[in-house]
Amino acid sequence: MYDKNSFKIKETPVILGLESSCDETAAAVIRGRKLLSSKIISSATEQAKYGGVVPEIASRAHTEAVDEVVKAAVEEAGITLNEIDAVAVTYGAGLLGALLVGLSFAKSLAYTLGVPLIVVNHIRGHLAASYLADDKLKPPYVTLLASGGHTAILHTVTETEFKLLGGTCDDAAGEAFDKVARVLGLEYPGGVNVERLAKSGENNVPLPKCIVRDSQTIKFSYSGLKTAVINYCHTAEQRGENIVKEDVANSFQHAAVDPLVEKTVECALNLGVNTVTAGGGVIANGYLRERLSSACKKAGLKLVLPEKKYCTDNAAMIAAEGLIQYLAGNFADLSINARAQIPLN
Ligand code: KG4
Ligand code: ZN
Repeated sequence: MYDKNSFKIKETPVILGLESSCDETAAAVIRGRKLLSSKIISSATEQAKYGGVVPEIASRAHTEAVDEVVKAAVEEAGITLNEIDAVAVTYGAGLLGALLVGLSFAKSLAYTLGVPLIVVNHIRGHLAASYLADDKLKPPYVTLLASGGHTAILHTVTETEFKLLGGTCDDAAGEAFDKVARVLGLEYPGGVNVERLAKSGENNVPLPKCIVRDSQTIKFSYSGLKTAVINYCHTAEQRGENIVKEDVANSFQHAAVDPLVEKTVECALNLGVNTVTAGGGVIANGYLRERLSSACKKAGLKLVLPEKKYCTDNAAMIAAEGLIQYLAGNFADLSINARAQIPLN
């Protein structure tokens, strides 16, 4: 019999993390906050042929990869399956079919090993990646979250309590990067290709910053910025003029990133917290990382940034959030289902 209330909690558990919410099948092992291994098998190259993620292709790829990626993570960690104290897995938000592959695998592994199953909110995973970057990190602090589906500045009050300080009122930052990539004829996944192109361009295309002025709260608008880029490119095309794609990418990057950095630092100073963290795929952007780190330095704030590979989807962050839930004794029943949407708190 599997009873989620029967497990003893260890101080420094070994946790296997599993992630399969989109196009990355990932597994990782941590011991306490120490990362022992992190493996990813991605179907991005296959998805690129279609210009984005096709859910059926993602599910099939997860089914084919999950066994191999778990084996590789366990091997690299130098442990045996019997040393695993808990299995943490993303159960939402994401593509249902994709999530179900990881969740079913995690359920059977937890059942077989007789260890707790921990279900993790993908976004909370992105936020927890910072705990692996600094094993002494403790809230309160201010967090910049920017991914393909979310853009927000949060007051992280405790490891499990977040207050929304500001966010997008339409598209997410990552979504805008992906759309601009498409307009510029760049391949999926778009964000990293926009960054690459921007490196040889200049910030000389007039674009609106993505901040909503005259608002009582901090609001970003990426839809307006995206439309401005599209209009700029279409107008040039109609006039028979050539655009310098590198300059468009560079100018877009400035417009998309600068307000996020400025407002994050402002929030930390207003709240009187001395630390800033960040998470989500867009935080892998080199220009954002440089801007945020110099702005924090100037303001006397400590910045904790996960390595680039732990900003985009991975399982180390799922294991890190799993640890928080483990220590709180927050274990799931094996009957739990995947969810396409979940709120942050
Ligand atoms: O966190 P993530 O891997 O998946 C979600 O949970 O959404 O974020 C993916 C998003 C995509 O929109 C992608 O274009 C963007 O993060 N991204 C980047 C970079 N790497 C990934 N955006 C800008 N620059 C990058 N280097
Ligand atoms: Zn993600």
